[in-house]
Amino acid sequence: MLRTFSTDDFVKVWLILLLLCTLSTKQITFEKEKSKLTSVPSEIPSEVTKINLKENILTSIPDRCFSRFTNLTSVSLDKNKITDVSTTAFQGLAKVKEISLANNLLPSIPALESVENSLVNLYESPVQNIDFSNNKIAVLNPGLFENCTKLVSLKLESNQLTVLPDGVFGPAGTSLRYLSLKSNKLNTVENGTFAYLTNLHELYMENNQFKEFPMEISKLVSIRKLFPRMESNNQHPR
Ligand SMILES: *[C@@H]1O[C@H](CO)[C@@H](O)[C@H](O)[C@H]1NC(C)=O
Ligand SMILES: *[C@@H]1O[C@H](CO)[C@@H](O)[C@H](O)[C@H]1NC(C)=O
Ligand SMILES: *[C@@H]1O[C@H](CO)[C@@H](O)[C@H](O)[C@H]1NC(C)=O
Repeated sequence: MLRTFSTDDFVKVWLILLLLCTLSTKQITFEKEKSKLTSVPSEIPSEVTKINLKENILTSIPDRCFSRFTNLTSVSLDKNKITDVSTTAFQGLAKVKEISLANNLLPSIPALESVENSLVNLYESPVQNIDFSNNKIAVLNPGLFENCTKLVSLKLESNQLTVLPDGVFGPAGTSLRYLSLKSNKLNTVENGTFAYLTNLHELYMENNQFKEFPMEISKLVSIRKLFPRMESNNQHPR
């Protein structure tokens, strides 16, 4: 016999679902900001899901440094003095969604391996937010983000980039919503670079060295916020 659900039943079901969600997304955060740390502390429990080591004086991130934190979803190493990140530093982490290495001294974007002896890099799924703002990055390796199907936000502002090479965003680039390249030394966006960024909503490219408005921008069919605006493109009048 059919029995209609009462409001009480709905409330019970809802509470059970809420409880399940809370249990499955338990966050364990380790934070140690402004503590003059020179290395990643050994007392961090392996269960952590978030690590925040902002404003310390780390200079390098050694081999497999974060590998034991298999449930890690977010790591912030902002405002340290990092010049070097081992390719295996984050190896084996399958759940990382956010990586911030902003405000460091990196000369290039570290090629981070996802698992041992694999061509897959860590920026590929499931990483969604990457922040490399304010480093010394001069060159983007073509293809670096070509397979990053989950990448939503990429911040590369205040670096030393001069060229955006064709191929840096491949067919996977359709996931990208936010891209900041402001305050670099960009003078060229190669033909084809933005061809796959069909869902990009926000693009920040002000304070660069373009002599003319990069025509690639006209390929961004979903753009909602764009800087510089078309009409204010007279940074370097001829
Ligand atoms: C990661 O989370 C799962 C599920 O909550 C748990 O069983 C496992 O022990 C955790 N891993 C570590 C290293 O804490
Ligand atoms: C992207 O995936 C293709 C096909 O699997 C592979 O050949 C290529 O090397 C990958 N690119 C990067 C940068 O890992
Ligand atoms: C890029 O495209 C423009 C317009 O279609 C064309 O004039 C220019 O020659 C192309 N540049 C290269 C390097 O292919």
